[in-house]
Amino acid sequence: MQRVAVITGASSGIGEATARALAAAGWHCVLVARREDRLRALAGEIGAEVELCDVGDRAAVEALAVRVLERHPSIHLLVSNAGMPARGTYLRVDLDLVERVTQVNYLGGVWCARAFMPGLEAAASKGGAHIVNVVSVAGTVSFAPAGAYAASKHAQLAFSRSLSAALRGSGIAVHSILPGFVETEGFPQKNVLKSGLLRRFVIEPEDVADAILKAIEKGKSESVVPWFPYRLVGIAQAVAPGAVARFVGMSDYKGDAV
Ligand SMILES: NC(=O)c1ccc[n+]([C@@H]2O[C@H](COP(=O)([O-])OP(=O)(O)OC[C@H]3O[C@@H](n4cnc5c(N)ncnc54)[C@H](OP(=O)(O)O)[C@@H]3O)[C@@H](O)[C@H]2O)c1
Repeated sequence: MQRVAVITGASSGIGEATARALAAAGWHCVLVARREDRLRALAGEIGAEVELCDVGDRAAVEALAVRVLERHPSIHLLVSNAGMPARGTYLRVDLDLVERVTQVNYLGGVWCARAFMPGLEAAASKGGAHIVNVVSVAGTVSFAPAGAYAASKHAQLAFSRSLSAALRGSGIAVHSILPGFVETEGFPQKNVLKSGLLRRFVIEPEDVADAILKAIEKGKSESVVPWFPYRLVGIAQAVAPGAVARFVGMSDYKGDAV
């Protein structure tokens, strides 16, 4: 029987690369996002299904899960990847953007996990299921130039870790993926980063897709991608928050300018 994966934010970037990698590994994919043309083009290429949904809308996510579970009572993998940037410090960021980024990046994953839980439990009872939450290194460091984004990712990481603990022994494994800078449409890092040093650490969506497949295969609960230098950033924030705040304050990331 073919395993079924639901991937949110599959119309571009990391989600698209993950859907391609999963399909190549034999998974049947249900692609979720808002841009229908993009999803249909990808679905045609990889033989997937398309579902339109704004993951920040709880009622829409519940209706999405009803539709998908009717066709696929067992869901072997949920990849909660849909997300958006929110650049600007807390001094200037538009407050509607603070609300929206919290709904999409944090609450969207909560709504999806709860709505698809019956399908994940059904798969778990027959061999196992996985939830992948695509978080960010921004979930481990309070990055001032994208303050609301960092806060949404801290919340998402806390949710992901908490869900992992709650599901211990259930047959549903939770994997938190923490990428560093990745060049995608929503996060055009190479244009935003002025520092040549930081630009050297920008990776591609396919690198994150590889890490997701490895995390599932090896049962890794948390993966920082790539480990160096980004894991060190999280460690620095935990052991020396004052020093990190001073360093971040001097950052040349053009937060308020984009
Ligand atoms: N790129 C980076 O540097 C980086 C680093 C760490 C973590 N991440 C995380 O990786 C994830 C994917 O981002 P990406 O870099 O691949 O960016 P991207 O290419 O802009 O992809 C974002 C995806 O999310 C979807 N999306 C956005 N808002 C949505 C909503 N309300 N409902 C449903 N789908 C929505 C978009 O599709 P539609 O517009 O068609 O809905 C798109 O498919 C995000 O969670 C992001 O925070 C990115």
